[in-house]
Amino acid sequence: MAVVHTDAHSHAVLNVRLFDMVAALSTTLDLLDPRLGSHQKRTCLIAAQIGLAMQLSMDDYRSLFIASIFHDIGALALHDRLRLLAFEEIEPHRHAQMGAHLLGQFEAFRPYASLVAYHHVPWEDGAGQRFEQRPVPMLSHLIHLADRIEVLAQGRDNILADMEEIRLCIAEKAGAVFHPDHVAAFLAVSRAERFWLDLFSVNLDQILKALAPFEDIELDLPKLMLFARFFALIIDSRSHFTATHSAGVAICAETIARHMGMSAAEAAKMRIAGYLHDTGKLAIPNEYINRGGPLAREEMARMRSHSYITHDILSKINGLSDIAEWASHHHERLDGSGYPFHKSADKLSLGARIMAVADIYTALIEDRPYRQGLPEIQVFAHLEDLVAAKQLEPAVVATLKRHHDDIGRLCREVQQREGEELSAFWRLADDMTEGRGQGNA
Ligand SMILES: [Fe+2]
Ligand SMILES: [Fe+2]
Ligand SMILES: [Fe+2]
Repeated sequence: MAVVHTDAHSHAVLNVRLFDMVAALSTTLDLLDPRLGSHQKRTCLIAAQIGLAMQLSMDDYRSLFIASIFHDIGALALHDRLRLLAFEEIEPHRHAQMGAHLLGQFEAFRPYASLVAYHHVPWEDGAGQRFEQRPVPMLSHLIHLADRIEVLAQGRDNILADMEEIRLCIAEKAGAVFHPDHVAAFLAVSRAERFWLDLFSVNLDQILKALAPFEDIELDLPKLMLFARFFALIIDSRSHFTATHSAGVAICAETIARHMGMSAAEAAKMRIAGYLHDTGKLAIPNEYINRGGPLAREEMARMRSHSYITHDILSKINGLSDIAEWASHHHERLDGSGYPFHKSADKLSLGARIMAVADIYTALIEDRPYRQGLPEIQVFAHLEDLVAAKQLEPAVVATLKRHHDDIGRLCREVQQREGEELSAFWRLADDMTEGRGQGNA
C-alpha cells in the first residue's frame, strides 16, 4: 500500500483547542458512573459564575475554571467515587490529594494541583486558611462551595421550586463551612433563575465554552502529545494489570507508521491516537478491567462499547478527526467482523489498520492477570493467523515483523518508564484507599 503524506499538510490540519480537550477529559471522567451526570462541568459552571460576580483577576479566573472542571480527577482511582456526592463526607481529602498528584504529572496543569488538593477544606471562620500546616489557596474554598452547590442541585426535577431551599442551606453555612465573601457572591448571582437552569441545559458544553477563559488557545502537535499522554495516564491508572497499555500501543503505532512511510507529523498523530484509543474504557466498571480472568457474557458485551465511546468523545473535538478515526477503529477488522462499525477493508484507513495491529501486538506481549506476556514466536503466530483470516493488514504485520527488534525494544522501554511513574501513583492510591496516609501531593 503506497502512503504519501507531507509534514506541511499535517501541521496545517492540526488545530485543536485546549478547551475542547479539557471538556473531553472532563466528560470522560464523568462517564465513570452515569449517576454522576456532569458533576465536574456543573461545578465548573457554578464556580465560574461566582468568580465572575467576584470580578476575579484573569489569572485567578483561569485557575478556578481549570481546577474546578477536573476537581474530582483523583476519585477515579479510589473505589468510592459516588460517596463524594453525599453532602457530608467523612474523609474527603484523599481523592483531593490524589487529584493534585495526578494534575502534577502534567506540566500545564501543575499550577492548579494545590487548588484541587484542598477542595474539601471547610472555612471554619478562617481556620481553613491552613490545612495540616499548609496554606490553602482561597480558590480551593470557592471550588468547595461550587462543588457542594452542585451536589445539592443535582437530581432535582424542578430546580426552580427548590432553588430557595438550596440558597438558604448554603447561606446558613457561611463562615462555618464556606468563605462569607464567596457565599455573598453566590447569593447575588443565584437569584436569577437562569443560574439554575443553565446547570441543566442541554447546551451545557456551549455555555461553559462561552465562559472559558482560554477559548482561543490552540494546541500544537507537541502540546497535544503531552495532553494525550496525560489522558492515557488517567486511563491506564485504573488498572494494575494494563497499567502501560496505552503508552505501549502509542509507541508501537508510531514506529510502525514511520516504517511504513508516514511523515514524522503523521506518525506523531498515530502516537496520540494510541494514547487515546482506550478512552472509552473509563466508562467500563473498574471490576471488569481488574478482573483476574475472562469476562462473563454481559460483561463482555459492555466492554465492547468502549471503542464506540472513544469515538463519541473524540469525534466531537474539532481538528482531531484523523486521530479520532484511527483511535476508535482499533477493534475493526478488514473482513468486517470487528466492532462497533463493522467496517471492512474498503472503509479502513492505513492508520486504523496500524492501530489494530499495534493494539493486539501490545496486548499479547504484556503480562495479564491470567497469563504472562507471550514469547515472540507465539505473538507472530497469532498475528499471522489473523492475517490469514483476512482480519489484519498483511503489510502492517510484515512491517512489524521486519522491525520487531527495534519496535519491541522501544515498546518495552516506554512501558518500563511509564510503569515506574504509575507505580509511584499506585503506591499513593493504595495508601489512600487503605487510609494509611494522606500523601504529600
Ligand atoms: Fe471532591
Ligand atoms: Fe466534586
Ligand atoms: Fe480496545
